[in-house]
Amino acid sequence: MALMVCALWFFTHPLSTSTKSPKHVSASDGVTSTQYCNPRSRAAVDLRHDPANPTFYDDPTLSYSIEKPIENWDEKRREWLLHHPSFAPGSDGDRILLVTGSQPSPCKNPRGDHLMLRFFKNKVDYCRIHGYDVFYSNTFLHPNMRSYWAKLPLIRAAMVAHPEAEWIWWVDSDAVFTDMEFKLPLKRYRDHNLVVHGWAHLIYEEKSWVSVNAGVFLIRNCQWSMDFMQVWASMGPQTPDFEKWGQIQRSTLPDKMFPGSDDQSGLIYLLLKEREKWADKIYIEGEYYFQGYWLDIVGTIDNVTESYVRIEKKVHELRRRRAEKETEGYAVVREPYLKNAGYGKDSWRRPFITHFTGCQHCNGDHNPAYAGDSCRFGMEKALNFANNQILRKYGFFHPNLLNPTDLSELPFDF
Ligand SMILES: *[C@@H]1O[C@H](CO)[C@@H](O)[C@H](O)[C@H]1NC(C)=O
Repeated sequence: MALMVCALWFFTHPLSTSTKSPKHVSASDGVTSTQYCNPRSRAAVDLRHDPANPTFYDDPTLSYSIEKPIENWDEKRREWLLHHPSFAPGSDGDRILLVTGSQPSPCKNPRGDHLMLRFFKNKVDYCRIHGYDVFYSNTFLHPNMRSYWAKLPLIRAAMVAHPEAEWIWWVDSDAVFTDMEFKLPLKRYRDHNLVVHGWAHLIYEEKSWVSVNAGVFLIRNCQWSMDFMQVWASMGPQTPDFEKWGQIQRSTLPDKMFPGSDDQSGLIYLLLKEREKWADKIYIEGEYYFQGYWLDIVGTIDNVTESYVRIEKKVHELRRRRAEKETEGYAVVREPYLKNAGYGKDSWRRPFITHFTGCQHCNGDHNPAYAGDSCRFGMEKALNFANNQILRKYGFFHPNLLNPTDLSELPFDF
């Protein structure tokens, strides 16, 4: 199903990153049709100028802080968009801002910082290919909301800073895009405001702490999300109720082993206890690796690589060199050959996002359950696997996924 939706999307939006459909810009914008010959035309730039009319930015009572609720956000956003028509949703669908980040201070050792850079490079690569904006934060916007709680004040501020973005896509620093071609099936989420990876039966029957993963999610830039984040953040360390929430979460989720209140448990708690209020707008994605646990994935990378090579050997179209900008079109050609690749441990489709949960690359204190260097080898392999998909557009590849300095020239039409 996931693959179908994705394939259909590609076919109906073949030039998604580079074109702008004239039908979305009205005549009153003063844009003539000829200017569409160049999507970055002068007219498009002019429209970005300050409008004369005041917007919500001129309201001195408006705050970016998660502690100050925002009201009528949908109207405020809509009005801003009205004054900035060049940012209306284009033929490429909804605008996405990917948000990620890390602590303000250095990692415990240089290897951690080096990995941080490579994890970020991976996100920049993905965003460049698909035309998404990316914001990296290296500050805690609320002094008491650190580590996994830091994302909420950041997303709140990003929503206000980016009224043009329909979605904010939070991606943890330790998550790697391992399929550079795959695109989010946004049409599927049309009626939802929050998308997380997980399994409904683990939430509602097992009440498991790991029934969803809060390290990667899409959240719509709308009033619902503002309200939801307000309630979600009320379990955070900035409140006097923090300890109490830790106890409540533990008594609600039997497999939660640590005492502090955390954002993931908070999300599951709200799904369980305020289901009627929120759950119908929350999409629990379980049909592809919206994010996947690295231990399930890393061991499959060699076989996945091989199966893609096997397909490419059969299909001349897939061996042709293309410009990096044509990557999405290339994906469309490949899609039919991935029809039966499936999802999960036995899949030979590239996993979309590989998440190094528990590896703690920045402080080096990985979960003791992970044997020896498994985290380090896993990250190396996933990063080089992803980078090969990029390097290929530049004529090279890493023949050995555990050695990032080893490089070979890509043969033409091998
Ligand atoms: C990889 O493929 C081989 C050959 O088909 C198979 O024997 C092996 O179990 C696969 N490995 C994994 C981790 O799936």
